[in-house]
Amino acid sequence: MRVSCRAPAKVIISGEHSVVYGYPALVAAVNVYSKVIIETVDEFGPHEICSEKYGIGKVIGGAISGPAALKPLAKVVSAFCESESFRGKLKIRVSSDIPPASGMGSSASISVALAYALLKTIYDKPPEEKVFKLAMEGEKIAHANPSGVDVAAALQGGLILFVKDKGFERLEAGSGIFLLADSGMERSTKEMVSKVASLREKEPDLFNITMTSISEITNRIARLLGSDLVEAGRLMTLNHLLLSLLGVSNSRLDSIVWTSISAGAYGAKLTGGGGGGCVLTLVDEKSLNAVEGALRNLNAPTRILRTVEKGVYIEEVD
Ligand code: PMV
Repeated sequence: MRVSCRAPAKVIISGEHSVVYGYPALVAAVNVYSKVIIETVDEFGPHEICSEKYGIGKVIGGAISGPAALKPLAKVVSAFCESESFRGKLKIRVSSDIPPASGMGSSASISVALAYALLKTIYDKPPEEKVFKLAMEGEKIAHANPSGVDVAAALQGGLILFVKDKGFERLEAGSGIFLLADSGMERSTKEMVSKVASLREKEPDLFNITMTSISEITNRIARLLGSDLVEAGRLMTLNHLLLSLLGVSNSRLDSIVWTSISAGAYGAKLTGGGGGGCVLTLVDEKSLNAVEGALRNLNAPTRILRTVEKGVYIEEVD
């Protein structure tokens, strides 16, 4: 059997970091994809993972011989074999247009596409809870204490308000345009999540005030995106300031935020773990060109994001 699956990237509009502690996150699945092709072969021997970006690895039991970047995928494969009592050999090919470590949920998108493709070999319609659980096995290796927001977006598609361990609410995407500006700085979500965890230990009062404020902002933006871009943009910028207080911004991200706003954006904020990666800017048709131009001058390449209603899907089955 041969199954080919694609899953979208995501962008967090509000609520990164606070989502780890049970507060809501507003997240959109966007039009950039990863792709996984799996083939089941009637042979014995280790499963093979061939990644366009990282090279080839072999999965033996739960371990991988090959690039360390393939560890999360090896975990998804071994968890699948164990939970579904799968006997046989898998050949897996992975490719992705999602820039890694940029805050667009590259690892989650690949884990979801892989989990879905694997489960498709057993189930005609892979059950959502099983796909989520399996993809989370990979995310637990890729990140410290993942909230599951990236996995939920890649699985469900659309614009959703997600709460860890509870579920999500689907919302209408508004008319605003989201522009993603790449700072060019790679960073690790794991490190940023640990940084916020240490602030919680050291300064619990500051931590709690910041988290409840971000939560309030997230709920408000969720309701405003369809009706009031000015206010939604202001709240995004306020969210950026609160993320700075948590220690996950830096001068490069700040300068991308303020340059966007000076050029006419409604608002802007870092998106994802922070410490580098991308800034999300809310614009409309009128301000789009000016903001793009200003960010080009800052050497921050931009891309226009479109919310996609469909999450992970099967491209082909033979
Ligand atoms: O950096 P990204 O795109 O993987 O997003 C991480 C979002 C966090 O809230 C910081 C972590 C999480 O698991 O939700």
